[in-house]
Amino acid sequence: MKKGFLVAAAIAFGLGGVAVRSVIATGESAQDAIIERGRYLVRIGGCNDCHTPGYTVRNGQVPETRWLVGDSLGYSGPWGTTYPANLRRYLSTMDVDTWVEQARTLETRPPMPWFNLRAFSEADLRAIYKYIRSLPSDDTPVPEYVPPGQRPQTPYLVMAPQSPEQ
Ligand code: HEC
Repeated sequence: MKKGFLVAAAIAFGLGGVAVRSVIATGESAQDAIIERGRYLVRIGGCNDCHTPGYTVRNGQVPETRWLVGDSLGYSGPWGTTYPANLRRYLSTMDVDTWVEQARTLETRPPMPWFNLRAFSEADLRAIYKYIRSLPSDDTPVPEYVPPGQRPQTPYLVMAPQSPEQ
């Protein structure tokens, strides 16, 4: 009887252990899936196009270690000159709920497509956050915004319609 109980207990604990392990494993793979979705959304959402140095001119062939660290190549237009933020740094001091709130209300100068950011679902915004926070931290600062009429101290792209040659 006593032996039978021990065997039963051992089986129960054994199975319990397996169950706990599989819950932990499922939890981890669920997190991995969210991070993977965030990576996908960042990529197809075009965030790298501006927030990752050299991404468009190298046809996207920039190692992930450099993704989203911001750029010191300015975007100049009637709004002045703006610099794509270092998104790793930007999110490093923000919790996920604050990010969702920010993404829903953010309004920046061009060419940041803030109006597209608002169109992401909450789940997508959370996945983007999880992905960016999974990248190693990077505190590289980007240059300050330069108001219209002032000359930027960095290389910059001029974003203004040009008339065709006469
Ligand atoms: C066409 C270029 C471009 C694309 C594409 C782009 N951004 Fe930006 N982003 C910028 C620029 C430039 C700024 C700075 C705007 C300013 O200074 O007003 C900025 C600013 C931001 C900010 C505000 C940072 C701050 O300090 O307030 C966030 C957040 C942001 N971008 C997130 C994203 C995400 C997420 C994506 C992809 C879904 C994305 N951006 C795509 C150019 C871009």
